[in-house]
Amino acid sequence: MSAPIRLDALLSRFGYCTRSEARAWIKAGRVRVGAAPAKSHSDKAAPGNVLVDGEPVEHPHGILALLHKPAGYVCSHDSAEGPTIYDLLPPRWLARNPPVTSIGRLDKDVTGVLLVTDDGDLVHRWTSPKHKVAKIYEVTVAENLPANLAEIFASGTLLLEGEDKPCLPARVEILSAREARLEIIEGRYHQVKRMFASQGCPVVRLHRSRFGDFTLENLAPGEWRIVMALGKVGGEC
Ligand code: URA
Repeated sequence: MSAPIRLDALLSRFGYCTRSEARAWIKAGRVRVGAAPAKSHSDKAAPGNVLVDGEPVEHPHGILALLHKPAGYVCSHDSAEGPTIYDLLPPRWLARNPPVTSIGRLDKDVTGVLLVTDDGDLVHRWTSPKHKVAKIYEVTVAENLPANLAEIFASGTLLLEGEDKPCLPARVEILSAREARLEIIEGRYHQVKRMFASQGCPVVRLHRSRFGDFTLENLAPGEWRIVMALGKVGGEC
């Protein structure tokens, strides 16, 4: 977002304060447009040209960040379900309007690559099976994997319980008797656990190592990094 907008809308959009608090922030001299102190909450400015408490407005083009989701955190804005992934991110990201949200979800016990963004179109594009974003999971199961697993998952005929459409073909690499690497392009509810459970192999550990082109590199569990400056780069995953 680089077009000029009203300062009260801008401060609220980027999570600094509410629109009604903006008047007081400006009166207190906390907001500058370029070198000059802002005069009125209704003045317009380009976000990239505004400073708050001497610092440029954060992420004026939007946020796309990669979080290494640890086990024990839910992908929900509702803290009644336990610690949430949003507890691991800067509070101002949640105060933005719209706030950041995860691109798809990982179960509470699942670890690995999770993208978060404040760009609703991106969420829609990268969670739609039409867009075919590949996700790779490292899977450990409680029983030995069947010899024909790759064939079954690749067939495009695997029907999960309660569903009427088979899973799209998926690629699986058997790493050991009870470990596999699975690549899927869908994101159905508990999909990986249900695919393996359908073959008599309950999942005991699940880790997402890749989402599209994005991997963890050296991020520790609970850490995040900005992966793309939105608005400057095309939105291909
Ligand atoms: N599949 C699952 O079963 N769980 C996840 O969290 C992601 C994919």
